[in-house]
Amino acid sequence: MAIREIRIEGDECLRKVCRSVEKFDERLHTLLDDMAETMYEGNGVGLAAPQVGVLRRVVVIDCGDQLYELINPVIIAQAGEIDDAEGCLSSPGEYGMVKRPEKVAVKALDRNGNEYILEGEGLMARAICHECDHLDGRLYKDLVSRMLHQDADGNWV
Ligand code: NI
Repeated sequence: MAIREIRIEGDECLRKVCRSVEKFDERLHTLLDDMAETMYEGNGVGLAAPQVGVLRRVVVIDCGDQLYELINPVIIAQAGEIDDAEGCLSSPGEYGMVKRPEKVAVKALDRNGNEYILEGEGLMARAICHECDHLDGRLYKDLVSRMLHQDADGNWV
């Protein structure tokens, strides 16, 4: 496994529509392993392949319970709405308020090409939406209602 360089906002890779994965081979598995390591190194809860310069529909998410690998993910249901703080490893040290569904269900393939459905609530739903947006070249700042700032005590407000 290896830590890959995270592309920072302004990099054109972050604005591309990514192509579907067709081959579930060793190259994909290495990408997934590297993405997970890169996400953990950056203390993120999700990472999408274009953030490491790979224009394929591949996402990793870990909101604290377990690692999920989503290949060619499609959000198939959503409900509710929550306005909450959000950040991105491609925009280090910045946070903003974004409205996201309270719950989502996403259909995806695992690293071997087997389809599964993942349901998420709260932070997990937010991460799923945020990472799927990356695959279509969308960043959270496209949706942000206001950016947060640190007050004198270091709290984000
Ligand atoms: Ni992001």
